[in-house]
Order: sequence, then structure tokens, then C-alpha cells
Amino acid sequence: MLEIKKQSYNFSTVKGISLNQLQQHYKLYEGYVNKLNEIWSMPVDAKEYGPGNATYSPMRSLKLGETYALDGVKLHELYFENITGGNNQPFGSILKFIMRDFKSYENFLEYLKKVGLSMRGWAILTIDPLDNKLHIIGSDAHDTGAVWLSYPLLAMDVYEHAYMIEFGIDRSKYIDRFIENINWAVINNRLAKYVNMPMRFL
Ligand SMILES: [Fe+2]
Repeated sequence: MLEIKKQSYNFSTVKGISLNQLQQHYKLYEGYVNKLNEIWSMPVDAKEYGPGNATYSPMRSLKLGETYALDGVKLHELYFENITGGNNQPFGSILKFIMRDFKSYENFLEYLKKVGLSMRGWAILTIDPLDNKLHIIGSDAHDTGAVWLSYPLLAMDVYEHAYMIEFGIDRSKYIDRFIENINWAVINNRLAKYVNMPMRFL
């Protein structure tokens, strides 16, 4: 099995969120990568897992851990990528889509913040091939609330571990700092990938 490599990010470009907070958070991401590599090195020989059982079985434990680690890796890579590198003024296609689907940029930010304050894990801006419109999905954990085939454009981590070291319980302040660090070039690149993707069926 190909080993999943940890991505690296330039945290020195982030303003208003301390390096210590970001580095502690990154350590959690490293843990998810390590666990995913461990899980994906497990044998595919079905007999190794005994009988399946939906209350407890080795296969149930493995599958629950797999989605948690896998979504943990993917979401944190989206998150760290979309708050590093500057480009903090919204522009381009994503801004046009926001104006179309959220009426105004200010309303979009207020909606995003309210989703972030209302969930226990993530607020994710996606574009869905069902209607080709932007949606902000709320999630209580890495692997709950995930929407199949919906394409992620912006990931905001609202787990306590994302802000508690620096901001205490002031999630609102953390979300404001997060928004100030969004790299809109990254978001536009993700949107361009979606637009050019053959999976679109509208
Ligand atoms: Fe996190």
C-alpha cells in the first residue's frame, strides 16, 4: 500500500492565530495521517476479521476508524491549505458565485460564522453537482455530515482543538481570525477544478 505523506504548510503567513496554536493543531493532523497509513496497511483477507457484527466486531472498529482518520486527513489538508499563503481579499469566480448564491459577501460571512458557531466539528463551503450552487455544510465530526460527491471549496475547523489554546472558549474571535486568513486564490483554484471536472452532471 502506498504510504500517505504528510503535507507541509507555511504557518508564518497566518496572522492573528499563533504559531503554537497552529503547530499543536498540525500534530493532530500528523496523528490522522499515521493512523490512516496503519489502517490502510491492514490485510484485505476477509477471514482475518472473523464474523461481521454491527454492535462490535473487528471489521466494525476498522471501518469506523478508517472514515474518521481518512476524513480527518482530507479536511485538515483543506483547512491548512486554505488559511496559508496570503491572498486574503476575495476575488474572481468564487466571489461571483458567492454573490449569486448568498446575495452578498457580508451575508455569506455571517452565514459561514453562524454555521461555525452552531456545529461541533466543521463548517464546509461546498459546490454540489445536484444544483451547481454553493452550500455551507455543518458537521459535528470528521466523518459525520460528509456529503457524497459534493465538492469542498473551503474548510473551517471549529473543533475546540483548533482555537482553545489561544482563544479559550471564544470561538467567535477565532472564526473572525480564520476569515481574515482565507486564501481566496486557493478557493478559486478548487472551484476551477470542479468546473472542469467530468463528474459534473448538470
Ligand atoms: Fe482540527
